[in-house]
Amino acid sequence: MTDLATILASARAEFAACTDAAALENAKARYLGKAGALTELLKGLAQLSATDRPAAGAAINDAKRELESALAARRAALADAKLAAQLAADALDVSLPGRGRGAGTLHPLSRVLERFESLFRSLGFAVADGPEIEDDFHNFTALNTPENHPARSMQDTFYVEGGMVLRTHTSPIQVRYMETHAPPIKIIAPGRVYRVDSDATHSPMFHQVEGLWIDRDVSFADLKGVLTEFLRRFFERDDLKVRFRPSFFPFTEPSAEIDMAFGDGGWLEIAGSGQVHPNVLRAVGIDPEQYQGFAFGMGPDRLAMLRYGVNDLRLFYENDLRFLRQFA
Ligand code: PHE
Repeated sequence: MTDLATILASARAEFAACTDAAALENAKARYLGKAGALTELLKGLAQLSATDRPAAGAAINDAKRELESALAARRAALADAKLAAQLAADALDVSLPGRGRGAGTLHPLSRVLERFESLFRSLGFAVADGPEIEDDFHNFTALNTPENHPARSMQDTFYVEGGMVLRTHTSPIQVRYMETHAPPIKIIAPGRVYRVDSDATHSPMFHQVEGLWIDRDVSFADLKGVLTEFLRRFFERDDLKVRFRPSFFPFTEPSAEIDMAFGDGGWLEIAGSGQVHPNVLRAVGIDPEQYQGFAFGMGPDRLAMLRYGVNDLRLFYENDLRFLRQFA
């Protein structure tokens, strides 16, 4: 039966040549499928004489078994090869240097705020916080600025539905803190504030650091002492000149603008301040006959510009890494 030997040989050759499972299954069909070469031979048995048939049948069945085991062996070999290829592709080369994580750096404004906190802590102030979306009462009314008060127009802001505003200053934190704490109170409160304002020295979102010290006899002299001391430490200059200029805020009386000397004979306004108005203390249930003190609202963004020699405030908010990396 040379036919059988030829079929076996070519089947083995074809199986061996198959490089993937799909090709192998196609090859299998050509020999063992319904119209496969070996199947055709089996069908041909019917034409053989009864004497020849058993031997021929047995030979074909042997061949079939052989093909099936060759097929199984090739299947296993292909599966092994596939797995090995996958493992090789996914392999972890432990000798490669790691990619590392960018260490990142603090934003210059974050650095300045941290500096504020540590310097004020060293002067005995705690750090407080409040919401950026404020109600009208805390942002204005409780600060002695009732509806239709002209001072409201100096702080035009973004109004949110339901009578809420993006706070125009950190002063509402004074109110919230005094609502929940009895004197003595000695806090600063850094945070973002919002106004409809945008140029080289104004951004619609900027930062303030509020300060509040209320006790039985905290005076305007304490305000001058604390702020002057803070600024000298902040800029690390004992001869730094600080000026208090009369001003107006509805929630302080008397009020002062704080300027610091910079450049050749120039002054830069860096904070509003004053003795807390008795109406503010009354609004939070503190007796102004027993307690008094000062408040201030400082612009840390301006101090950051001075400290780092940055001439445009907007640079702090553009998140250009070439700018930010200089503060690493
Ligand atoms: N809240 C004032 C402002 O934003 C600053 C200020 C704070 C003035 C505290 C006096 C006392 O302009």
